[in-house]
Amino acid sequence: MSNLKVLVVDDEKGYRDEIEEYLVDSGFTVFTAGLPSAALEIVGNESIDIAIIDLRLPEMSGIDLMKKIREIDEQIGVIMISGHGDMDSVISAMRDGAIDFFPKPFNLIDIRFAIERTRKFIEMQSNLTEIRNTCDNLMEMMNNESRVPIIGESPGMKEVFRLMSQVSPNLNTDVLLTGESGTGKELVARGIHYLGSGKGKVFFDVNCTAIPENLFESEFFGHTRNAFTGALTEKKGCFEIANGGTLFLDEIGDLPLAMQAKLLRVLEERKIRRVGSNIDIPLNLRIIASTNQDLGAMMEHKLFREDLYYRLNRFPINIPALRDRKDDVIPLLELYNWHFSTTMKKSYKHISEKALTKLLTYGYPGNVRELRNMVEKAIILSATKSLELTLNCFPDLDRSACTVPELISPDNLDLSRLEGMERDMIKCAMQKTGNNKTHAAALLNITRTSLNRRIEKHGLEFN
Ligand SMILES: Nc1ncnc2c1ncn2[C@@H]1O[C@H](COP(=O)(O)OP(=O)(O)OP(=O)(O)O)[C@@H](O)[C@H]1O
Ligand SMILES: [Mg+2]
Repeated sequence: MSNLKVLVVDDEKGYRDEIEEYLVDSGFTVFTAGLPSAALEIVGNESIDIAIIDLRLPEMSGIDLMKKIREIDEQIGVIMISGHGDMDSVISAMRDGAIDFFPKPFNLIDIRFAIERTRKFIEMQSNLTEIRNTCDNLMEMMNNESRVPIIGESPGMKEVFRLMSQVSPNLNTDVLLTGESGTGKELVARGIHYLGSGKGKVFFDVNCTAIPENLFESEFFGHTRNAFTGALTEKKGCFEIANGGTLFLDEIGDLPLAMQAKLLRVLEERKIRRVGSNIDIPLNLRIIASTNQDLGAMMEHKLFREDLYYRLNRFPINIPALRDRKDDVIPLLELYNWHFSTTMKKSYKHISEKALTKLLTYGYPGNVRELRNMVEKAIILSATKSLELTLNCFPDLDRSACTVPELISPDNLDLSRLEGMERDMIKCAMQKTGNNKTHAAALLNITRTSLNRRIEKHGLEFN
């Protein structure tokens, strides 16, 4: 309670000084103002908890001052005092949100009790706000269809869970998530955030592939007004937005080299400056980077900075490909069968034995995302009256549009066919991933840059 900041606004110096002296002796931090303009300046600069305001003031009435103060900070509790105890003013002040009212002369001890009551009221309000935020957060988690539980019964996923719970309490330990496209990197990043102190805090997701090279700096660090041509207003960057929570740097392999150096400095110094500003903003946030590219190989080709690689790699979590953790296939099929039957309001159907056998032996190059999409499609395709999801409901399991012919046979040692095969594989990977180059490159086990080079070499075009 002694840390409370109290503002006393009264044009009568005698009253002001008397209240100030008493409250300072009681251990409060006290600010005083004789005029509303001075009071508003103090409210703008200090985080005032309680304001004691005289009803009749020069410049504007105490009630108008209370309204203006609330516009600046709606959490401030207001106690009104007045030498003119007319009932109308009392009622009006209380209706407009004053928490207490005292006619002059008053006992100073009563003011102290009023402050105590107001403090409890403010505390209750802030608890309520916290509860409301938690509820909003839960609602958001439930409404967002991607918020499914993370399933994993395989030893590989159990190891991922172990690492998640190990790292989640340490906000300042940066994490590098690796794994093929669709293995669940984003889901794991969100899991670490919510397991840790994330409830009610920001989880900010930045896809490094989507930012044009010349905009990185202002997207990451923000900028002041007029920092450069076109900067008409000031802007917060993603580090500032995520401060206190988690910044998820997705596709970190696509970060240009110049930005890699800047990111390294931020990771080490834990502070940033907006472009055009010379004020440091301290950071207290969790940074999770993710990639489906081979950063080690990129580092060898000088496409990824060595120092940043080692800095990020202090706490790596690799999510295994689904083909290497077949124990998870049935639980995932069950989860998505249940999930999509419910969201599509269709009756739940078991997966037929034939379909299940195929589903268990399939390679899932698109990992969990592919399994999820297959189940969604199967439920759409299933006949309403059918009691099962049959093999017909999973046409992608059979379609061999993307199978590559036997590469090596004694009768077929024609090296000149390799170019054609490369071309077919690229076309196939692009088709399978809906022309998403990042995902196609991951399927082909090459970097995005390498994919681009090969697309150009073969004169291929994709929209
Ligand atoms: N263990 C899991 N349990 C349940 N659902 C999962 C699991 N892993 C992934 N998914 C689901 O699979 C889909 C792809 O996951 P996510 O987006 O996290 O993958 P990613 O590794 O970030 O992929 P990309 O590299 O393509 O961005 C999402 O719909 C996600 O909910
Ligand atoms: Mg992702």
